[in-house]
Amino acid sequence: MRAIVLTQYGGPEVLSISQVPDPEPGPGQALVRVRATSLNRADVLQRMGRYPEPDPKPTHEILGLDIAGEVAESPSGTFRPGDRVMALVAGGGYAEYAVVPERTLLPVPHGWSYEQAAAFPEVFYTAYDALTQIQVGVGDVVLVHAAASGVGSSAVQLLSAMGAQAMGTVGTAEKAARVLTLGAVRAIDYHQEDFVAVCREFTGGLGVDGILDLVGASYFERNLQVLARQGRQIVVGTVGGARATVALDLLLGKRLTVIGTSLRSRPPEEKMALAQAVKRHVWPLCDTGRIAPVIDRVYPWAEARDAHRRMESNLNIGKIVLSIS
Ligand SMILES: NC(=O)c1ccc[n+]([C@@H]2O[C@H](COP(=O)([O-])OP(=O)(O)OC[C@H]3O[C@@H](n4cnc5c(N)ncnc54)[C@H](OP(=O)(O)O)[C@@H]3O)[C@@H](O)[C@H]2O)c1
Repeated sequence: MRAIVLTQYGGPEVLSISQVPDPEPGPGQALVRVRATSLNRADVLQRMGRYPEPDPKPTHEILGLDIAGEVAESPSGTFRPGDRVMALVAGGGYAEYAVVPERTLLPVPHGWSYEQAAAFPEVFYTAYDALTQIQVGVGDVVLVHAAASGVGSSAVQLLSAMGAQAMGTVGTAEKAARVLTLGAVRAIDYHQEDFVAVCREFTGGLGVDGILDLVGASYFERNLQVLARQGRQIVVGTVGGARATVALDLLLGKRLTVIGTSLRSRPPEEKMALAQAVKRHVWPLCDTGRIAPVIDRVYPWAEARDAHRRMESNLNIGKIVLSIS
């Protein structure tokens, strides 16, 4: 098969399509003919050599955490050849074929293209899991940083569907407008406004109930300032740095909860459980059209270098997809 194999780390120019042996499904796995995959920030870091694949490492290092396509082989008979599926994978998405544990496969929602389906797993699993961990309830005010990103745009939609109030920080007016269309009650362009002041004003001085933070160190101190008493914060990403100073007096005084999370390093059983939870709670919202991934652009996979450049320049709103023809 053809795949984008990392043979060296570096800039987008290291990405090119080459020939590798077809993967073979093991026990409990299906072989999927991949029709589309999508970019995640992790791909950019992995390409640079800053985000190694978890063990066991494959023979060929192939980027890509999302796949959508049709089942080619299902040795257990759970799926029929041709079934339209999508899945979160630990790597190997930028390829014509991928092997996937069958329990992590979800059917492609009604009416979705493969490009839409490939934009779903990593960001919606991450957002759903993070919002579950901070126990978001109806009416809660939740601040989402980098709200126009892949994960952020998914979180905003989920919060709106859950009856919570999403506020979102973004870097441009265009992103602010888009986040509002996704259901946010307030978008904050951080070049124009201070999110602490805006959130305090919005909540009548109480602060926000939760924060889904995709930025990290540069926001950490201000996050603690803006959380309400017993507020919960989950740190999901560190695009703004990974080393922060913690104001323990705020943490103690307001009885705050701060959680860190990572999806990729989890054992397969936990990923299967998450896939099943998403199938139960989120997939029906997709099937009825209440929720849909935000597609920024679709590139043919031969143009993966341009796709990576776009993400690295922070230009994307939602997901960048690679179509595997
Ligand atoms: N823990 C996990 O399991 C997990 C899973 C998935 C993703 N993640 C992490 O979640 C984050 C988002 O991933 P994604 O794929 O959705 O990203 P993405 O679509 O590439 O969006 C990232 C956005 O972050 C904003 N940003 C970049 N640098 C920033 C900075 N220094 N300060 C403030 N904002 C900045 C930019 O938007 P603006 O123009 O609005 O600033 C950028 O477009 C990444 O850090 C990723 O590694 C973690």
